[in-house]
Amino acid sequence: MSSAGPGAHPLTFAELWRELEPVGRDPQTGGYRRYSWTPADTACRAWFTGQAERRGLAVETDNNGNLWAWWGPKRPGAIATGSHLDSVPDGGAFDGPLGVVSALAAVDVLKDKAFSPERSVVLAAFTEEEGARFGVPCLGSRLLTGAVDPDAARVLTDDAGTMLADAMIAAGQDPGYLGPRDDLLAGLGAFVELHVEQGRALAPQGAALGLAEGIWPHGRWRFDFTGRADHAGTARLADRRDPMLPYAATVLAARQAAADNNAVATFGKVIVEPNGTNAVPSAVRAWLDARAPDEAAVADTVTTIRSASESFCEEHRVTLSVRQESFTPLVRFDQALRDRIAGTLAAAGVTAPVLPTGAGHDAGVLAARIPTAMLFVRNPTGVSHSPAEHADLADCEAGVRALAAVLEDLAGPT
Ligand code: GLV
Ligand code: MN
Ligand code: MN
Repeated sequence: MSSAGPGAHPLTFAELWRELEPVGRDPQTGGYRRYSWTPADTACRAWFTGQAERRGLAVETDNNGNLWAWWGPKRPGAIATGSHLDSVPDGGAFDGPLGVVSALAAVDVLKDKAFSPERSVVLAAFTEEEGARFGVPCLGSRLLTGAVDPDAARVLTDDAGTMLADAMIAAGQDPGYLGPRDDLLAGLGAFVELHVEQGRALAPQGAALGLAEGIWPHGRWRFDFTGRADHAGTARLADRRDPMLPYAATVLAARQAAADNNAVATFGKVIVEPNGTNAVPSAVRAWLDARAPDEAAVADTVTTIRSASESFCEEHRVTLSVRQESFTPLVRFDQALRDRIAGTLAAAGVTAPVLPTGAGHDAGVLAARIPTAMLFVRNPTGVSHSPAEHADLADCEAGVRALAAVLEDLAGPT
């Protein structure tokens, strides 16, 4: 899978992977902390830019911080592929980077066979896909499509109180130009995102690769519980206004509401003020992530959790405010594009089962504007957003070959 291009010899998938692997990895947990506009993110961007340029691609950063590496001129009908380089806290190595590294390696495969794209191929690395730093997932692609207001985006803050605009400036990017890019989208004929499987559907079927059917509707809600700080030793139980109590009850109510609605609901992030062992907290800030196969089930789940939380708060004399921070409606990927990709894979002897997913992706955001598809690479652990996330090298290489075949078909002669 290597290729000797002009100048330096491009790296194979395994070599590319080894190069990127240490960037932003926490030595204690083995997980990744590649948050957008931090030095780890900047290092990932520089690495991608360098590798794309070695392959003769023209790299640009758009007004929203997304990276685009062009193989061929910018003209309508370009075939885009890629994913993201940022991570959740202590995330796995594959979620995002697998799609970006595979895109580079697929270009090598095609260059090796002297393929010359009739429609340009463009490799994309989207910004803040996980929403791990500024709270809104797929922020780069949402800004691109106009699904997020740029003024609202500029003032999003991280947990340290840094605004997105300031984080971008610190990383050398001007936030003044955030906003939709209809011209860029109009130039794209299709987007194909290769991604590690998040779940364990492929292993039992003996399939190395899968195709996405759609994405469950999902969203994030911020719950603010406000009580009164007090002394853990001297404040009588009856006198306390402890926000931890309604919060804890709300977590249990979320689990029950999810089970009752065939949904999933998670409180995965919580901030406690002042966070002292011997102090009754003054406030608890927590984020609910809720997803289900249909939008009504998500709405019912969240409504049930919210009203349970309101009554717990009343019982404990705690005030509650709930705010939706993001929502992604049900996504169905383009049927014609999926059929075409399935045909290409079948011709290469690859059977790829079609799977729904509860995970969000930039491909899901772009699906509202252009034909979009996703290829999944088997994850034998089934675990994701964790250092235990895994894909075997042989499956990754099968993914690269499949992606190259798909790009050859989509960007090749009509
Ligand atoms: C991103 O991976 C998400 O599904 O939240
Ligand atoms: Mn993810
Ligand atoms: Mn991802």
